[in-house]
Order: sequence, then C-alpha cells, then structure tokens
Amino acid sequence: METVEKREQLYEGKAKIIYQTENPDYVIIHYKDDATAFNGAKKESIPGKGELNAKISSVFFELLHSKGIPTHFVRQLNDHELLVRKLEIIPVEVVIRNIAAGSLVRRLGLKEGTKLPFVIREFYYKDDALGDPLVNEYHLQAMGVATFEQLSELSRQALEINRVLREFLRQHQLDLVDFKLEFGIFNGQILLGDEISPDTCRFWDTETHEKLDKDRFREDLGGLTEAYSEVYRRIIG
Ligand code: TMP
Repeated sequence: METVEKREQLYEGKAKIIYQTENPDYVIIHYKDDATAFNGAKKESIPGKGELNAKISSVFFELLHSKGIPTHFVRQLNDHELLVRKLEIIPVEVVIRNIAAGSLVRRLGLKEGTKLPFVIREFYYKDDALGDPLVNEYHLQAMGVATFEQLSELSRQALEINRVLREFLRQHQLDLVDFKLEFGIFNGQILLGDEISPDTCRFWDTETHEKLDKDRFREDLGGLTEAYSEVYRRIIG
C-alpha cells in the first residue's frame, strides 16, 4: 500500500488533530487520549482511549461501506490514525436516539432506559461559544448553515446508519442507545465524517444494561478503557 505523507496540522480539537497529506483530497485524523465533557468543563487524559476510538471507528466505517453507505473513511494508517477524505464540514451534529438517556432525560424528564416508541432525530448547531444549541431545520436554513434538501439527506443517511449499526450491535449483545454523527461535502456529495466510537455513541450491554461508553467518564463511573476494550472485543468477535 502506498505510503502517506503527513503534512501541516490543519486543526486541533478536544479529542482529535487533523493533518493535511500530500494529496489535497486526503487528511489524517489523529485520535487523542484526551477526554472532555460538558463543553470542555471536565477534562482528563485517558491512556489507550485514542487507539480504541480509531480501531472501533474503523470497524464501523468498514461495516457501513459493506452495506453501501459511503463515508469519508479510506483506511486505518496506524494505532491512532485514520486516512480520510477531506470534507467541507457542515456545522451540524445529527443525534439519533433509540432509548432515552443523557440530555433527553434531563430536558424532558423521561426515565433513563425508556425505549422510545420511534426513533428521535435531533440537530445541534456546532458552535462552542453558543454551547452547541438544539435547533431545527428552520433555524439552520435561516442561519444559512444548510438547506432543507441537505438536512433531509442528513436525516435519511443518519436513519439508515442507525438501522445498520443497531442490527450489527444487537448481534454482539450491545444496545445502541443513541449516537451523534457529523457530515460534510466531498465533490458535491454528502458523506459521513468524524468518528463512530464510544465517545460519540451510547452502548449498553443488552442483558445487564451496563454502560460501555463515555458516560463512564461523564458520570465518574471509572473503567473507561476497560469498557471501550470490551466494545472492541465484541464487535470484532
Ligand atoms: P446527549 O444525550 O448528551 O445529547 O448526547 C446524545 C449522543 O450524542 C450521545 O451518544 C453522546 C453524543 N454526543 C457527542 O458525541 N458529542 C457531544 O458533544 C454531545 C453533547 C453528545
């Protein structure tokens, strides 16, 4: 396989660094060991987390490709890094929920663990200064962030991804509670970007309902790398 040249750093976020490569269409995502929550208010370095997120994301991206769903993923380069297509990011987080947890529970008073009667899709506008507010199609279109057509394509892909991931995870005794996706544009096409990992999804053991995701950090439950390793062990098994 041809080697890839790592060039200048383009961006550093809370959990990732992006590097340009010699090919203008490709960038490298480096997954850091840093964990943050509550818009960066809670912070810690957790050795092993970056590597697990890179590996777990790669498994999910390959699964989506095998089901005909295109993403930015090209291949995993090493323990911490993936080669991906360089997207023009749409600053919207698409959240899909199958079971009530997290902010849905806090905001609406539903009981954690309640199975939702149908899939809930939410949009958040990505803006740290505003604290990533919950928005709808009208807000995003009025702000010039995305068109209705683009947003309905994001919804379509997110719901399809939910079907594929939910079914796959169920075979590995994991419930897909909820997750967050980010999309971007490559050659005029809307592609899934970012990552699919226990940092961005909630995974519960189907039987025990044990939390095997970043809620271990958010809720000070401990055992984060053990939980991420368990997710990885199950999805490759
Ligand atoms: P929430 O319940 O806190 O709104 O989170 C819903 C899902 O989105 C959950 O799986 C975690 C994920 N998420 C992120 O990936 N990044 C974020 O900044 C937030 C707030 C949630």
